[in-house]
Amino acid sequence: MNFKGRSLITLLDYTPEEIQHFIHVARRLKKEKAEGIPHKVLTDKNVVLLFQKDSTRTRCAFEVGAMDLGMGVTYIGPTGSQMGKKESVKDTARVLGRMYDGIEFRGYLQSDVEMLAAHSGVPVWNGLTDLYHPTQILADFLTIEENFGHLKGINFTYFGDARNNMGNSLMIGCAKMGMHFTAAAPKHLWPNEALIKTCQAIADQTGATLAFTEDPKAGAKDADVLYTDVWVSMGEPKEVWEKRIEMLHSYQVNATLLGLAKKSAIFMHCLPAFHGKDTEIGTEIATNFKDKYPSVSEGSLEVTDEVIESKQSVVFAEAENRMHTIKAVMLLTLGGQ
Ligand code: CP
Ligand code: NVA
Repeated sequence: MNFKGRSLITLLDYTPEEIQHFIHVARRLKKEKAEGIPHKVLTDKNVVLLFQKDSTRTRCAFEVGAMDLGMGVTYIGPTGSQMGKKESVKDTARVLGRMYDGIEFRGYLQSDVEMLAAHSGVPVWNGLTDLYHPTQILADFLTIEENFGHLKGINFTYFGDARNNMGNSLMIGCAKMGMHFTAAAPKHLWPNEALIKTCQAIADQTGATLAFTEDPKAGAKDADVLYTDVWVSMGEPKEVWEKRIEMLHSYQVNATLLGLAKKSAIFMHCLPAFHGKDTEIGTEIATNFKDKYPSVSEGSLEVTDEVIESKQSVVFAEAENRMHTIKAVMLLTLGGQ
């Protein structure tokens, strides 16, 4: 396996063995950190983090991960650079590639992260685009491995907008790792046909299965993992909320759905999550739609507060694992071991 100099644009570019190795190295780095064993092995290197969209976890995971490895880090936020306004992505790539050893990009277009990778000459890591969120999947799979001891054969169900960056990337990841992926969503929110076809071809090799259902209860039955994500993603207009609630309110992960899964099932969410009135948007939605959709009246949208606060929820361990897995990605692609 050779990781040095490679970008992480989509998990489609990595073999199951390579994905497993990212997770293996992340486990080692996590253990070392817990035991206070430093691993500042990239002290002569610097990375830049380019964010066109907001972030808590991804930004902090890259920053802490880079600092733990001994690297310098520059953060450029949604308003802080010339990119896309006065300077093309291609020119930005050629400038940053001459200063930095690696580039993280979070934004809208998958073609932008591809452009950075093609022209910077250094590893580029996709920290989320409209299409994919590959580093999140590595953290999710580390978390599943920690809970079940393995990935292969896990019954994994994703509820909600299955054609967003999370739905797409989880389907790819499950196909690669021989898992049983089910998307429980209205038909027009299933991943696109071409991606399903690509993933089915991978699944045929790995023993994975892919299933799609409009019945949330059928999706929950016998699941090991129930996973959901926000119903409206970053970059989508506010106006889509009403239609999305109408389409997805019956896919809210609540105690009834969790009760249909295996007793040992875990609940996962990439976060941030709407599970109460403690957020501006959660409160606004609860106020505007409570009469028509009572299930969202408490500000719990894609998941209830009860489920996310339950013993079966692993969402905060999952969030921590962003850092360990992103650190592993940087370490390996920058030439470390
Ligand atoms: N899960 C995730 O990517 O979170 P942030 O948007 O906070 O980075
Ligand atoms: N689908 C979500 C994921 C957030 C981590 C979004 O793009 O906003």
